[in-house]
Amino acid sequence: MNRFWLETYGCQMNKAESNALEEEMLDSGWIPADAAEEADLVILNTCSVRLSAENRIWGRLGYFKKLKETHPHTLAVMGCMAERLKEDLKKAVPAVDVIVGTFQKADFARLLRQAASARHALTLEDPCKEIYAFARRHSRKNDFRAFVPIMHGCDNFCSYCIVPYVRGREVSRDPHSIFEEIAGLLQAGRVKEITLLGQNVNSYRFQDMDFPGLLDALFQRFPRAPWIRFLTSHPKDFSPALIACMKNHREMCRAIHLPVQHGSDTILRAMNRQYTRGAYLALAERIRGELPDVLLSTDILIGFPGETEKDFQDTLDLMNEVRFDDAFTYYYNPREGTAAWNMQDTVCEKLKLERLQTLIALQREISRTRKRQRLGQTVRVLAEEISKKNSAEILGRTEGDEMVVFPGSTKKFPGGFHTVRLDELRGNTFYAHEIEVEK
Ligand code: SAM
Ligand code: SF4
Ligand code: F3S
Repeated sequence: MNRFWLETYGCQMNKAESNALEEEMLDSGWIPADAAEEADLVILNTCSVRLSAENRIWGRLGYFKKLKETHPHTLAVMGCMAERLKEDLKKAVPAVDVIVGTFQKADFARLLRQAASARHALTLEDPCKEIYAFARRHSRKNDFRAFVPIMHGCDNFCSYCIVPYVRGREVSRDPHSIFEEIAGLLQAGRVKEITLLGQNVNSYRFQDMDFPGLLDALFQRFPRAPWIRFLTSHPKDFSPALIACMKNHREMCRAIHLPVQHGSDTILRAMNRQYTRGAYLALAERIRGELPDVLLSTDILIGFPGETEKDFQDTLDLMNEVRFDDAFTYYYNPREGTAAWNMQDTVCEKLKLERLQTLIALQREISRTRKRQRLGQTVRVLAEEISKKNSAEILGRTEGDEMVVFPGSTKKFPGGFHTVRLDELRGNTFYAHEIEVEK
């Protein structure tokens, strides 16, 4: 029997790559195990962005090491942590059989197969240049949402971030290959939402095609495209042309994730973010001015070396000024190999946690107020599932990824569009009623 178990950590990029690997495995005769404890091959697709992510993975490695004593299997580690630690990972946990870094992805389905059948460890010495070899394949799962990588790597070297080291320099994917994947996804008529992925999609460039150019070409090629989103945008590269492109194409979801990271110019400079607080505020204002219905979300990273009370206050002030619809908040942890690793980690853990709690409380308040202001609006919702609490209700999401529950049962399910009016807010969930059934 060839049964595999795949666990994925980290960002959407890792999730997209895991989906593609799963397809490869299914194609070559593997079947998914019902439980990790029944698998012949266990694959962990890993993340290194924060210590907490790596600690979870160390915990899982410890578990599989123990499991091997009673249930022999091949243990493979791939992704960013595998790339970061390489053979050190094997030294720390000899039970690991296969280590596949982010640059050997094209080949790893084959290598995993070999490793599983031969039950021996492989070291990969031949980095492969074709990085999208398996991401081209679309999932045959019944998903109505899909993630399509359009770039790989990052050139920005924010001083706290490990990503450029574990993912390498930016490479933009050939638009033909992107469109081929999208055509495959749309063929069955099931996919209703596509997210274009990259660490900084705004710097996409293939020959003379930039990101707005890619989007225009996409809509030309697929005039009946479903909802299109993109992740992530770097503020320094978010161009007026992209705003114009979003205005021109209503299929582009009115949701922009625009990580600010911090509100103090001193810290932004130390982080090597390459924009100022003023430039960010101007960009946010411009986006909101031209796309009034857009939902703006962000990432905020506090506790960076040298952050003073005043710097922290600047961040709170910026949040109050922009009034983000949502924010993912983190506190800094040093990552070996990054520029900030050599800076003294001046903000103690206790203060980092306190500041994080203050941020979270403020954002919760802002998100709630902004959501309340939306009551009475008519919005389109993509149906996701029958509500677990009440089988006469449907759970869906708006263009801005907000949860909406409304009465109804539907045949075009999951993945049908409904037009609803937002009536009530309970916690983070809108309650609504349908006002138009879309064909
Ligand atoms: N490319 C995206 C951008 O430019 O914002 C984000 C990529 S990163 C995978 C996601 C988030 O993790 C970042 O926005 C940052 O807030 C956070 N992050 C990165 N390095 C970190 C570190 N050393 N400690 C804590 N959080 C970190
Ligand atoms: Fe990391 Fe900065 Fe690149 Fe985002 S833009 S992946 S935060 S280096
Ligand atoms: Fe983590 Fe790698 Fe993504 S470090 S956040 S899985 S690019």
